[in-house]
Amino acid sequence: MRVYLDHGATTSVRPEVAQTVLEHMTRKYGNPSSMHYLGREAKEALEDAREQVSGVINSLPEEIIFTSGGTEADNLAIAGVARYYADKGKHLITSAVEHHAVLDACINLEQAGYEITILPVDEYGAIDIDDLRKAIRKDTTLISIMHANNEVGTLQPLQDIGKLAQEHEIIFHVDAVQSLGKIPIDVQKMNIDLLSGSGHKIYGPKGSGFLFLRRGVGITSLTYGGEQEKRFRPGTENVPGIVGLAQALVLSSKEMEHEMDRIRKLQKQLIQGVMERIPDVKLNGHPVKRVPINVNLSFKDIGAESLLMALDLEGIAASAGSACSSGIMGPSHVIKALGVQPEFAPGTIRMTLGRENTDKDIGYVLEKLALIVERLRKKSSSQERKIGACNCSKG
Ligand SMILES: Cc1ncc(COP(=O)(O)O)c(C=O)c1O
Repeated sequence: MRVYLDHGATTSVRPEVAQTVLEHMTRKYGNPSSMHYLGREAKEALEDAREQVSGVINSLPEEIIFTSGGTEADNLAIAGVARYYADKGKHLITSAVEHHAVLDACINLEQAGYEITILPVDEYGAIDIDDLRKAIRKDTTLISIMHANNEVGTLQPLQDIGKLAQEHEIIFHVDAVQSLGKIPIDVQKMNIDLLSGSGHKIYGPKGSGFLFLRRGVGITSLTYGGEQEKRFRPGTENVPGIVGLAQALVLSSKEMEHEMDRIRKLQKQLIQGVMERIPDVKLNGHPVKRVPINVNLSFKDIGAESLLMALDLEGIAASAGSACSSGIMGPSHVIKALGVQPEFAPGTIRMTLGRENTDKDIGYVLEKLALIVERLRKKSSSQERKIGACNCSKG
């Protein structure tokens, strides 16, 4: 049996979306800048996609800039705003649990003379609105706080942050890569000025994404070379990817209420099942204010690597932290920021649910996980005994 529980890393492309992408690669392959019929057809598809995306987040179509994904959208938002408003101020605020696409963009700015305040988070991974209030300065130009955390799923209080940002006339950027298509987003209600989204987390193609940029907010482009996307993102548009992203987003939004109810039940089944069957395990992230697809657990006295390998052998795909940091040993910056205890932190895994998962999958995972954890714990304690014996003889 195979159970894919890594939908936070990426998802399969919906068959109907794949069909559309193929059509725009093989039949409707024109360059949207071309004057002829194929170019016009591509341009029309591009503008339809813009309208579809804007409809989902309640923006204007012209406020959507298509990018190569969430990383580029985050980079463009942060560096773009920072550079554009450099004369006004060089102070930015973000949080300790942001994705590296945000954090590394901030570090890069720091090296260029900007000042960054990185807000701490509570044990669940949420920022404190009073910390944010205190961090605001006269020269603050941008607040960048994510919606759903990619590792532990915790949702940040966007509405409160948006209100505060508006009161202080500070631009507010949200990385919504993990919440898009799962939790309703309204950039007007939430006072969001910039918002990043990605196609491959919502059953759309990889290498597709967008940045919502509120009309009137300035950004400096990071790339040069053409008129496309109002010069903010020059280069021939990835029309198949863009059209696929828009279709996937519309489908996810339409199904959201029903599908997320279903996923929430699976999430509950998985968390409760683990808690009932396995001792010494801790749920990371907020118990309620979390994205329905995310289950992040820390198992005491176990290494995530051996746990993931054992799960993989049983056909279960999960991840340690985010996919992007899974090559790095040791607890991720998010797990550290949450203050997970040292005996739990190394045994942290993330299981993220999706469209293909059923309650049968959860039953299978629970059965295998309980056996694997027991086996690994036995193994590590017998190894400890051996090391202990060895130390004694050394005397
Ligand atoms: C919260 C968050 N932001 C940004 C990204 C980057 O998105 P992309 O893979 O489309 O570049 C990811 C992907 O893991 C993410 O989870």
